[in-house]
Amino acid sequence: MGPRLEGPNLFLLILGLVLNSLVLFCHGGRTSSYVRRLEATVDMPLDSDVFRFPPGYNAPQQVHITQGDVEGKAVIVSWVTQEAPGSDAVLYWKENSSKKLKAYGKSKTYKFYNYTSGHIHHCTIRNLEYDTKYYYVVGVGQTEREFYFFTPPEVGPDVPYTFGLIGDLGQSFDSNITLTHYENNPTKGQAVLFVGDFSYADQYPNHDNNRWDSWGRFAERSTAYQPWIWTVGNHELDFAPELGETKPFKPFLNRYRTPYRSSGSTEPFWYSIKRGPAYIIVLASYSAYGKYTPQFKWLEKEFPKVNRTETPWLIVLMHSPWYNSYDYHYMEGETMRVMYEPWFVKYKVDVVFAGHVHAYERSERVSNIAYNVVNGICTPVKDKSAPVYITIGDGGNLEGLATRMTEPQPKYSAFREASFGHAVLSIKNRTHAYYGWHRNQDGYAVKGDTMWFYNRFWHPIDDSPSE
Ligand SMILES: [Fe+2]
Repeated sequence: MGPRLEGPNLFLLILGLVLNSLVLFCHGGRTSSYVRRLEATVDMPLDSDVFRFPPGYNAPQQVHITQGDVEGKAVIVSWVTQEAPGSDAVLYWKENSSKKLKAYGKSKTYKFYNYTSGHIHHCTIRNLEYDTKYYYVVGVGQTEREFYFFTPPEVGPDVPYTFGLIGDLGQSFDSNITLTHYENNPTKGQAVLFVGDFSYADQYPNHDNNRWDSWGRFAERSTAYQPWIWTVGNHELDFAPELGETKPFKPFLNRYRTPYRSSGSTEPFWYSIKRGPAYIIVLASYSAYGKYTPQFKWLEKEFPKVNRTETPWLIVLMHSPWYNSYDYHYMEGETMRVMYEPWFVKYKVDVVFAGHVHAYERSERVSNIAYNVVNGICTPVKDKSAPVYITIGDGGNLEGLATRMTEPQPKYSAFREASFGHAVLSIKNRTHAYYGWHRNQDGYAVKGDTMWFYNRFWHPIDDSPSE
């Protein structure tokens, strides 16, 4: 005989049902109550201190580094010398080592309409040791500048590693606040996953490429010291037939490097790297991705290569989001979603970071892959094998915030807020990663949205935040 439902038992049952329905209610999407004033977001003037030229004749400027191979044992160092080519060498050494090594790169200039660039240098340093601090010098033999970076730990399943997430940064006063908040976040990011839209130089007459230079000088305080993993956005296209500039991505291609060949890619815009416990796939929203295209064929071969015993965390970066409930760029990512989402679910991608929409949003774990042309099943459903989709295009560029949202909040949207900010993903081990989004208005330690990620391969249980 079961327990009789009367007295305290009945009360507990009713209380349980009430609490249960409250939990279900709270699991609906949440829209932040913060409403930002729509002040104009303006670029910092060119004579701002953050854009200062480093002192000295032909001093290297716009120094930035990125991963140079698949495993993290190579670094690509890039910089610009304005007056003359100068040295193509990078001098580097391990901390506490007196043995200095030299690597040689190449430099070139490019023209864009009536603009001619400085001498842009790229040099790959290889065979680095894991988990080591290296110092490096550029401008060798002239005005020398010294920086340092840390190589990642050896690729493996349980090495902790922390990524910063920044998107659509631009060079406004708000961009500067975002970068400052990232730098001062007590959870220190060790590398930045940048989801596209760098300088917004294309918003200036003739795509004034001097604004590519100023962005490089502005971002140097971070990009010279930790690798930024680059994703291209629409503002990197610089396709301007009215100016006679018909080669898409021309300034980006000349200024920034990605290690695409190492992962078998044929273009710099899509590629993959391993870094510590993570396998990171970078996709190109503005290169062809339909069936039989180079990107499609590459990705088709790429997913089966991911070994979750070696790299438990599978992260994808792209510019245009697939799950976005703002009025801005609504459904722009839809055609790529239709092409690739079944793979994302099949291969259990943990999280997808995108930008493009100038606000913040985190999705539920959802998929929408049941549709075929006759069944009409075209609604996102909760799916524990699906990634969480995060829009982090809130870097603070001159175009301002995206504030208009589709109402009511769609079920796939877990949390959304129109504030500028950045995020940090701290991978702890093969099962757990802690994620926090930081809005610019708060103190450096304050998190506006958090989530414990449970790895989809090693610990695939429900990890949606319970608040
Ligand atoms: Fe964009």
